[in-house]
Amino acid sequence: MNQPAVDIVVLISGNGSNLQAIIDHLDQSDTSARIVRVISNRPNAYGLQRAQAAGIATDVIDHQAYAERAAFDQALADRLEALNPTIIVLAGFMRILSAAFVERFRGQLINIHPSLLPAYRGRDTHARVLAAGDQQHGCSVHYVTPDLDAGPVIAQAMLTVQPSEDAEQLANRVQALEHQLYPAVISWMTAGRVALHDDQVLFDRVVQPSPRRLSMD
Ligand code: GRF
Repeated sequence: MNQPAVDIVVLISGNGSNLQAIIDHLDQSDTSARIVRVISNRPNAYGLQRAQAAGIATDVIDHQAYAERAAFDQALADRLEALNPTIIVLAGFMRILSAAFVERFRGQLINIHPSLLPAYRGRDTHARVLAAGDQQHGCSVHYVTPDLDAGPVIAQAMLTVQPSEDAEQLANRVQALEHQLYPAVISWMTAGRVALHDDQVLFDRVVQPSPRRLSMD
């Protein structure tokens, strides 16, 4: 393994089950990629305990300590610049980041969203999918751009909605997909296979016409 180290910072706000999936995946992989810091905007996020149990350094930047969004974003950006990661992974990070922040880290910031984007940006995706009677649902990993949940999609995982299931059951099944999709995308990124160029996703240096699809049914 003579690859340069790939440093990852993961931003969380809560449970951190996606963080756990990424930790477990990196532990089991022959990779020089490592999570150098987990940062939470909430002091009591359970994901901080997951990081500490894995021996990963943690920071809390409590958004409530900042009167304005811009000041919080500045503090977060300063911390990230000091860490100088290759990839910044948003994993259940429940803060909207300002356009200035997003531009500063463009091409490094990725997010996971529980829908097949561009469908169902925003919240309550599972209930909205059920209300619409959709048969297909899933999750997307995308580059973060200033428009919420609208950045170029790298990959998606899909499932078939069961007629009998409720929003909670559907959410659980989508989360299980997330735990496979996010590590897969991070593996591609740490191997240098994915890049953002002119708002398009390159895979192995070729423009990807549509998101990669992982089918798990
Ligand atoms: C995930 O379902 C993700 O889609 C959304 O926030 C949730 C985070 O869950 N962005 P966890 O904290 O990783 O368990």
